[in-house]
Amino acid sequence: MSRLIVVSNRVAKTDGATKGSEGGLAVGVMAAMEKAGGVWFGWSGKVENKNEPAKHEVRGNIEYVTVNLRQSEYNQYYKGYANSVLWPLFHQRPELMRYSDADLSGYLQANNKFANELLKIIQPDDTIWIHDYHLIPLGKMLRDAGIKNSIGFFLHTPFPSLDLLRTVPGYQKILKGLLHYDLVGFQTQADHMGFCMGVAQGLGGEILKNDRLRFEDRHCTARVYPISVETSALPEAATAGEASDEYKRLYNSLADRKLIIGVDRLDYSKGLVQRFQAYDKLLGHYKEFIRKAVYLQISPTSRGDVQAYGDLAKRIDREAGHIIGTYADFDWMPLRYLNRGFRRRTILAMYRLANVGLVTPLKDGMNLVAKEYVAAQNPENPGVLVLSELAGAADEFDSAVIVNPYDVSGITGGLAQALNMPLDERIDRWRKMMDVLEQHDIHAWQKSFLEDLHSLTHPQIAQA
Ligand code: G6P
Repeated sequence: MSRLIVVSNRVAKTDGATKGSEGGLAVGVMAAMEKAGGVWFGWSGKVENKNEPAKHEVRGNIEYVTVNLRQSEYNQYYKGYANSVLWPLFHQRPELMRYSDADLSGYLQANNKFANELLKIIQPDDTIWIHDYHLIPLGKMLRDAGIKNSIGFFLHTPFPSLDLLRTVPGYQKILKGLLHYDLVGFQTQADHMGFCMGVAQGLGGEILKNDRLRFEDRHCTARVYPISVETSALPEAATAGEASDEYKRLYNSLADRKLIIGVDRLDYSKGLVQRFQAYDKLLGHYKEFIRKAVYLQISPTSRGDVQAYGDLAKRIDREAGHIIGTYADFDWMPLRYLNRGFRRRTILAMYRLANVGLVTPLKDGMNLVAKEYVAAQNPENPGVLVLSELAGAADEFDSAVIVNPYDVSGITGGLAQALNMPLDERIDRWRKMMDVLEQHDIHAWQKSFLEDLHSLTHPQIAQA
């Protein structure tokens, strides 16, 4: 029987009850896998120096196969090359890149370990779908070991332009690695274009018809598949979350003040410094919001042992302290800043309650918080999404209040506009965004990627 094997560094083992700190990949892939089932292979989340075999565990219709990382693999692969080279590079922050040959070799070794474990479970009819920047070389390693199955790759992050990509030593290997997949999926046209230009100008390869690319004896198809959310399930989950004690306490604490909500991993790509400064300006320039607004920022600590993340945490603490010290009163806290996650349905209920969803990354592949915020709204009284034009979601959501995340005054203006927006305009803008999510949910995303992968690798069956 043919199975779907999904491979990602991070796997999510829990459903709607999970703490919402795992980031877009786990949330998106979980929603897709829950329905279709299959094998989900990845890192167990544990660092262990003993050699232990992969752990197999079945929950619902998903079989999880997970491996531990050794301390050196965690340091060089996860913390090192993946999160101190590829992540900053793909998010346009080359100055935060910390490249070393040792980290690159640890990255390759960890990918090799994943490949060896996968070889033990892959059966001839399985379809293999690899996710994200941690695992770019995995496709080639599987091919070199003789695997003939269909192998697709989806990048959840942005893909840089060639100018930026060139800042990483050996950048050609990244491009060549991707050319070993049958199908490579990107979030936006700009990411897709970055890859095509990289292959054409960085490698001297060719752009062919039907989204195909060739370099020497390798070719692949590359297309755009914007990831989405489980649109139809989210309103109900948000309503269920309203029963939680945490939601009720939040609701009661607001009295009739307006709520602005931000939910992001504590990551420098999320634009939190500029966002806090914009809120500071709002309170400074628009006195009508003093005592009338509350900004709740939920930011679970992420990759805290990578230096750039530790530095960011200190910087944000200062910005938060400044806002509270300047504006707070003994009976009004303008900012509530929390370094922890909540159950997903509680977060969804908080989205539904919030008058404004504030999503201002400096760069983001898609940003599923933006999509979840929209899907969780009450159709009769929806909130307003203030969205960065540099998030992938902005390509589909032109009826959000679009801001430049580097323009602090612009974000302040967007916030004021959102807080004062009349009901009919709110409904109109929300409806347009909801139409996008209804036409294209997470299941449609998975289906279109896998159908394309199948028709590329089984053309005779697809035509029949
Ligand atoms: C982003 C990345 C994912 C990653 C997630 C959480 O969404 O695209 O690949 O898993 O962040 O980050 P973490 O380092 O905790 O896995």
